[in-house]
Amino acid sequence: MLIDLCELSPSYVRSIAPYQPGKPISELAREMGLDEAGIVKLASNENPRGIGPRTRAAIEASIAGIARYPDGNGFELKQAISRRYGVDMASVVLGNGSNDVLELVALAFLGPGRAAVFSQHCFAVYPLATQARGARSIAVSAKNYGHDLDAMARAIDDETYVAWIANPNNPTGTFARAEEVEAFLRKVPERVLVVLDEAYNEYLPHELKADSARWLKRHPNLVITRTFSKAYGLAGLRVGYALAHPSVADVMNRVRQPFNVNSMALAAAVAALDDMEFVARSYAENLQGLRQLEEGARKLGLDFIPSYGNFITIRVGKAAEIYKRLLRRSVIVRPVGGGYALPEHLRVTVGTAQENEKFLGALSASLKD
Ligand SMILES: Cc1ncc(COP(=O)(O)O)c(C=O)c1O
Repeated sequence: MLIDLCELSPSYVRSIAPYQPGKPISELAREMGLDEAGIVKLASNENPRGIGPRTRAAIEASIAGIARYPDGNGFELKQAISRRYGVDMASVVLGNGSNDVLELVALAFLGPGRAAVFSQHCFAVYPLATQARGARSIAVSAKNYGHDLDAMARAIDDETYVAWIANPNNPTGTFARAEEVEAFLRKVPERVLVVLDEAYNEYLPHELKADSARWLKRHPNLVITRTFSKAYGLAGLRVGYALAHPSVADVMNRVRQPFNVNSMALAAAVAALDDMEFVARSYAENLQGLRQLEEGARKLGLDFIPSYGNFITIRVGKAAEIYKRLLRRSVIVRPVGGGYALPEHLRVTVGTAQENEKFLGALSASLKD
């Protein structure tokens, strides 16, 4: 072969650094000859509670229909979501995880000659989705590890069509209050879609939860994204959604795959959305776990970024090395150097009390190695 096939893709695609997911348990077990059962994975912000019995029953019942294509319009789930948030069904876009709806925004609204603004230390998918469309990235320095919304508003130029904001943010766990987000929405030109990624919304205390769906009426350029991967415990099934103005939702729906959400995920999400008790327990247990990890970090003399999510980002020093030492102790966490630009920190998902304990013990030992 005389040509490098890679060269056939546009240069902006070739220069994409691949997304680094949390290391799967099976991979670590294979690589280090460890027993899978003894491995604790606190690397992908999943729900350690798993799923509730009603969701499990819905998944099992959905097996009967597995030979058929799913409902490409996701009627039942859209109906449940629209009732929950008081929005039109035409305002709901379903995705294969919320990652998919983020990609749909990029696909529908970004391209060469356009730009998107995001914060330093933001969720890795924002720069990735922006770059994959050949659009320009405008990265704005963080303030106290979180979004500097004033600076982000100032950074918007004539080519900017999308502003990506995660609230709470991953991997820093920082949170912008409702007033700050609303002030940002008032400031940005109507042309700029503000993607408010609320993947961790369910982990916020009641008094901090904004009724962001209400903002859609006043701000037709707002796109809210949510997921069933975190508090609802369905990360493996892949289902998330966006709430947006019907015209925005319409274009996003035009560029999605016709059957982007599978039938099991649709059935599970309908049941999970209804199981408020499961989510309430997940919230309460997460809070306890967060306190346990904060307390443990303090005892080890380590700083951490106060978190509003189901994870905490701890400053451990030589994070890449500590990460490896933790792996040897059968604990998987997430290094956040590289694209996240936090080379001294490790992001740790809140696990069960036992998992958190195991992590803290392994961390204590790893700091002394
Ligand atoms: C801020 C944020 N948004 C979106 C996602 C994507 O989640 P999913 O595609 O599983 O819905 C994640 C996952 O970690 C996240 O942290």
